[in-house]
Amino acid sequence: MDTGMVLLDRNNLKEEQFEKAAELLRNGELVAFPTETVYGLGGNALDPGASAKIYAAKGRPSDNPLIVHICDTDALPVLAKNIPESAWKLADRFWPGPMTMILEKQDIVPKETTGGLNTIAIRMPSDPIAAMLIKVSGLYIAAPSANASGRPSTTKASHVYEDLNGRIAMILDGGSVQIGLESTIIDLTGEKPLILRPGYITLEDVREILPDAEYDPAVLRRERNDNIVAKAPGMKYRHYAPKGQLTIFEGNLEDVVNAVYREAVLKQKQGFKTAVLASEETKDRYPGLTVLSVGNREDEEGIAACLFDTLREFDHMGAEFIFGECFRTDGVGQAVMNRLLKAAGYRIESAGDKSRSLKK
Ligand code: TXA
Ligand code: MG
Repeated sequence: MDTGMVLLDRNNLKEEQFEKAAELLRNGELVAFPTETVYGLGGNALDPGASAKIYAAKGRPSDNPLIVHICDTDALPVLAKNIPESAWKLADRFWPGPMTMILEKQDIVPKETTGGLNTIAIRMPSDPIAAMLIKVSGLYIAAPSANASGRPSTTKASHVYEDLNGRIAMILDGGSVQIGLESTIIDLTGEKPLILRPGYITLEDVREILPDAEYDPAVLRRERNDNIVAKAPGMKYRHYAPKGQLTIFEGNLEDVVNAVYREAVLKQKQGFKTAVLASEETKDRYPGLTVLSVGNREDEEGIAACLFDTLREFDHMGAEFIFGECFRTDGVGQAVMNRLLKAAGYRIESAGDKSRSLKK
């Protein structure tokens, strides 16, 4: 299949630019499009055949449900039932925006879209390209992140092309996305609102509206082999991963820099292509090594915006081993570290422990 590329200017959009993409979607084909979080791989959410195509194009396990994108809150009762008051409050505060809610699904939503679950994930994106595509198509658009399963999510059209060229009908190219991490997912089907995936909207933000909101324990996990089962099926898979083996060091920054440097030099001497994930403040501390900076340590939003692009950059370099610094875990930093630890397969080392030997 030829994958068409359509270049769009967010500040100058016309409905007719979306007609071809909308027609493809109505015919059950797939169109990738930018949202404010990451690029999505869109298909008609009420068409089981389109959902099947999404799973096939991504190579994604079909028990991992898709998020359904809407452009108007009128769609909520069409797609979900027994909608609690808390859902309307969240919608009022955070939509359109980087927030996804889990609710009980209505019967018109096929199980193929929800990975067999009786619940549905719904989001109203704020990116004008996403909003206009939904509106012009007249559909509810199921869209996972537009990456091949397991790879870092896509924050530029070129990332989508890299992973999905030849597998989907069209890519709408709106340049780089604004946020760079996937939406915050809030489950409203249990006793308390639970954040299943941290994002740009933080727990503190959610608690301003719903004071009893908590993290799903799986969000805070630090270990590879614990028994915590993630409530969002997708969060259990290895994810966001570069092809090389990523290890994250934590501890005080001096210890971290020393440990990263020591281990990276060791691997390089053994003949492996080795690289370092660092920050603007520390990038010059690794002489003789290949270093990529994700930005200033204090600028968590800047780090979020370029994290996935940087992880992909390691693949372009052919890095076999990557050693990375840890970052702050407050605010958006919580979401940054969540993605980074998953990318590392929870391979986290304590930088202060001199007796530690590197796990294989
Ligand atoms: O920012 C985003 O959310 C992006 C853009 C494109 O909107 N989409 C995205 O989709 O990240 P995806 O498929 O990569 O991640 C969706 C996550 C998965 O972890 C999935 O398991 C979870 O949402 N999810 C979807 N439906 C669910 C449900 N009914 N119950 C629990 N988790 C659900
Ligand atoms: Mg994804």
